[in-house]
This record gives sequence, C-alpha cells and structure tokens, in this order.
Amino acid sequence: MTPGNGRPWLPVALLLLQVPGCSSLSGPNSTMGTVGGSLSVQCRYKEKFRETAKYWCKTPCLRDIVVTKEADREVRTGRVSIRDHRADLTFTVTLENLTEDDAGTYRCGMDTSGLPGYMIDLTFRVVVSVSPGELCTPLPQHVVTACHRVPHRSLLSNIYFLLLVFLEVPVLLSMLSAVLWVNRPQGSW
Ligand SMILES: *[C@@H]1O[C@H](CO)[C@@H](O)[C@H](O)[C@H]1NC(C)=O
Ligand SMILES: *[C@@H]1O[C@H](CO)[C@@H](O)[C@H](O)[C@H]1NC(C)=O
Repeated sequence: MTPGNGRPWLPVALLLLQVPGCSSLSGPNSTMGTVGGSLSVQCRYKEKFRETAKYWCKTPCLRDIVVTKEADREVRTGRVSIRDHRADLTFTVTLENLTEDDAGTYRCGMDTSGLPGYMIDLTFRVVVSVSPGELCTPLPQHVVTACHRVPHRSLLSNIYFLLLVFLEVPVLLSMLSAVLWVNRPQGSW
C-alpha cells in the first residue's frame, strides 16, 4: 500500500492502473477548494470491489488515512470523512474547513492487496488545490468572475460621476447664476 517499501515496481504498477478505461478505480484527476470551505471527491469502483475496504490518504500515504469497511457509514478523522455508497459503486471523501496545507496529492484507494490476484492496492491519484479565497486572486474560476464584476461596478459609478460633473454641475451653475442675475441689486452694477 505504501510506496517506497522495497517494491520498486510499485510506481510503474500504479501508473498502469491509472490508464483510463481499464481502471478498476477512478475519480477526478484534480479538484479545487477555497480556504475555510469544503470539497468532496467521488471515486468509482468496479462491482467486484463492493465489499472491499476503501480509503483516502495524502501521499505518501504513511499516515492520515481514513478507511471505511462498511456500507453507507461515515467514517471521520478530524476534518476528513469517507463514506462507501455500495449501491452505486462509489465512495465519497469530504474535506471540511480547508486550509492551504490541505493542498497536495491524495489517493483514493482500495485494500485489494489481500485479494487473490492482487499484490498491491488499487489507487487513484487526485490532486487537491486550495486557493486563499480572497477576492481577485487569479486561480479559481468563480473568483475570477467576481473580479470582473468589480471594475464593471466602478465603471458605472465613474460614468455617473462624469455625468454629474459635465452635465449636472454646469446646469446647477447656470441656474445659480441666473438666480443671482435676477436677484442682483438694482442699479449697483
Ligand atoms: C485524467 O488524466 C488522464 C491521464 O493523465 C487523462 O487521460 C484523463 O483525460 C484525465 N481526466 C480528466 C477528467 O481530466
Ligand atoms: C469547521 O469549522 C466550524 C466553525 O469553526 C466548526 O463549527 C466545525 O465543527 C468545523 N468542522 C470540522 C469538521 O472540523
């Protein structure tokens, strides 16, 4: 299950297992969240692994592993939870209250190393990125959209300000001078 424990062919085997189409386990290659938010990853498996234990871990997967061995029961370790939906052959991992330290490479995994014909666990690599979530950071798409709205708003208020200066102010000034002209003290000019 863990790379670098004296089985040098393991990374190659993992690479082969990730070829799309012939994978017994698949998920999103990457996913994204914002600091303080949450994200979910759904991994899909072949029917013959319905009863197999599923897990999620941050590479190199030496610790912080959350494992589920039962159907439809949430298993939680701190901010990370996992649930195996055996009816639709998926399991879902949720990371809550994200921090920037949560960014990294994770693996969906299945404890197949004990099954006949499998010498290693089947895993799928998922890259998680976490954006700071401040307005106008260039990374996530929804934040970029929000950034486009800000200059749009200030452009409108600029136009209003220009209208005020170039239309309303002269009108006010000429009204004011007309009033002054009408009310001028007679005979003194
Ligand atoms: C995931 O990565 C594989 C190989 O790198 C690629 O073939 C596949 O299209 C990617 N899938 C998605 C959903 O981006
Ligand atoms: C996430 O943060 C909120 C607010 O601080 C807290 O109430 C909640 O228990 C946290 N959730 C987890 C899973 O740590």
